[in-house]
Amino acid sequence: MNDYVIECHNLETAYVNSLNRPILNGINCQINRGEFVVLLGLNGAGKSTLLRSLVGLVPLVKGEIQINGVTMTPRTLPAIRRDVSMLFQGGGLIRQLSAIENVLCGRLGTKTTWQTLFGFGRRDRLLALDLLEQLGLKEFAEQKTSQLSGGQQQRVAIARALIQSPQILLADEPITGLDVIACQQVMQTLSELHSQQGMTIVTVLHDLGIAAEYAQRAIVVDAGCIVYDGACDNLQAKFSQLSQV
Ligand SMILES: Nc1ncnc2c1ncn2[C@@H]1O[C@H](COP(=O)(O)OP(=O)(O)OP(=O)(O)O)[C@@H](O)[C@H]1O
Ligand SMILES: [Mg+2]
Repeated sequence: MNDYVIECHNLETAYVNSLNRPILNGINCQINRGEFVVLLGLNGAGKSTLLRSLVGLVPLVKGEIQINGVTMTPRTLPAIRRDVSMLFQGGGLIRQLSAIENVLCGRLGTKTTWQTLFGFGRRDRLLALDLLEQLGLKEFAEQKTSQLSGGQQQRVAIARALIQSPQILLADEPITGLDVIACQQVMQTLSELHSQQGMTIVTVLHDLGIAAEYAQRAIVVDAGCIVYDGACDNLQAKFSQLSQV
């Protein structure tokens, strides 16, 4: 029996005149529980749009998404968002807030508006601190996010995505712009979440070498379609056939 945590059936977004096609143009794929998948493709291929569609942020005109066997609808979306965390391209942090406050924002989805009026409880704060410590940022917890380096901000974004203990982590270019050491630290963190906690990871990367080093499977997107889905062997050759826009 299959154990798919993510299933995309013929996903299609609205037609875009400037592209002469929909951004997602018939996406079909299945991702198994506990897989580490890398999403590759040229700029504008539709990778971010595909990831965002998995947390219900992209209007679809056709197709269906199932997460853990549950079809995504406005009614099922809140429960799905508790299982799936997204690390946005560029981090998506609130710059004026401290590191710990940004991490705590990851808890907002589990709170009612009423509860948020009272601020976050001690348990949540301890959990956030614990995550920051695991990611090597304990001393920076109270520092404004705008005063952190890019790599440190990326790790705050990871802590924010992890505070709700997701089963599935979607990461959009988590290492873009980071130095070699920070890249390795972030990839190592993702790898440990995968191997030690069995988390399903889908990450967009642009570095084919790092993709092959960490991921078990590659999905290559080109002009809104999946053009390759398989092992991470010889990825360079797959890229030479992509359409340049
Ligand atoms: N809201 C929108 N309206 C119209 N076009 C959009 C919208 N969002 C994205 N696009 C276009 O859709 C295409 C795919 O965008 P997307 O952000 O998914 O690409 P990507 O593969 O993540 O690229 P990159 O590697 O540069 O991050 C791009 O050509 C982009 O200009
Ligand atoms: Mg993108």
